[in-house]
Amino acid sequence: MNVHGEHYRTIWLKADDPTTVQIIDQRHLPFRFVIEDLRTVEEVAVAIKEMHVRGAGLIGATAGYGMYIAALTAPRTALSDFQEAIQAAASRLKATRPTAVNLAWAVERQLTAMAAAGDDIEAQIEAAALTAQEIADEDADFCRRIGEHGVKLIEEIAVRKGDAPVNVLTHCNAGWLAFVDYGTATAPIYAAHDKGIPVHVWVDETRPRNQGARLTAWELGQHGVPHTVIVDNVGGHLMQHGMVDLVIVGSDRTTYTGDVANKIGTYLKALAANDNGVPFYVALPSSTIDWEMRDGLAEIPIEERDATEVRIMDGRSGDEIREILIMPEASRAANFAFDVTPSRLVTGLITERGVCAASEAGVLGLYPEKRKE
Ligand code: MRU
Repeated sequence: MNVHGEHYRTIWLKADDPTTVQIIDQRHLPFRFVIEDLRTVEEVAVAIKEMHVRGAGLIGATAGYGMYIAALTAPRTALSDFQEAIQAAASRLKATRPTAVNLAWAVERQLTAMAAAGDDIEAQIEAAALTAQEIADEDADFCRRIGEHGVKLIEEIAVRKGDAPVNVLTHCNAGWLAFVDYGTATAPIYAAHDKGIPVHVWVDETRPRNQGARLTAWELGQHGVPHTVIVDNVGGHLMQHGMVDLVIVGSDRTTYTGDVANKIGTYLKALAANDNGVPFYVALPSSTIDWEMRDGLAEIPIEERDATEVRIMDGRSGDEIREILIMPEASRAANFAFDVTPSRLVTGLITERGVCAASEAGVLGLYPEKRKE
């Protein structure tokens, strides 16, 4: 997508050194655009855990490239040494963040591809390189298709509203920064904007890390999409006053029954949407669906992050980036990073194969190959 008019993905191999993975270090946005080089499994693990990269799809793609780096850097003395290093890398990467299922999915996809390459180490490295690229390309392609399906929902509302802009509310950042390209919740918005449909986005700031205010607002601005940042508690009020036509959020893990884990606060938006008759859609690629989990509330692991993220905020002051404490030094803080929205509050899921009901029948209707006999 666009950064100062130039096309970028969020992750790629360095042009003159394909053993180095490059990422946009999202901790510095929107104030500075910083590209970071990753050369070791440990650097990849830290980049995921400390959120230099974040968002379900990009976490998966980064883990895919991380396994490629694992293959490049593993000892080649004997097959057993190589395989031991690959297994250690898989465990290290999988342990970085618990909620987004794309992480384990990408690591497992790499392990399967490498095993299929047989006992030749060079063939396994080749397989890891191809699979990392495949995961990234597929993520971008699926997001583009989510845009094609989701834009129809915006178009229908636009027809009803005449020339008035369609107001979409989104939470956190399920934009291109959370994936390899296009994003999920934002893909229909970009598609609508590119088609000339007037669209305006209410951007939840999304405490504590402010992915909405810092990342979604920046992305939308780079693409020229009209938007307004609001604090997290405003959405209900806007919905009560008819100022939201549609909510579209992303997902970090969706059960095959349609329960959705997404950034903390999503559930409250779903409740408000339900109370006010506002359609509430979740956009996700199938890599985010957990085909083993039936009950999201009981089963999806919810990440708890360091309380420092709640206690301290950072932002720009003049030319400097500053950190400030925003609560009494002695008070405790808790930092639950995700919540689960039950399927009954979700109007529909927008996937790369189309839009379906948030239910087992709806999801398996689009993915019949996942039916268990
Ligand atoms: O903690 P993050 O920033 O990795 O959280 C992921 C998210 O960006 C959101 O939950 C998003 O809405 C899901 S789409 C990847």
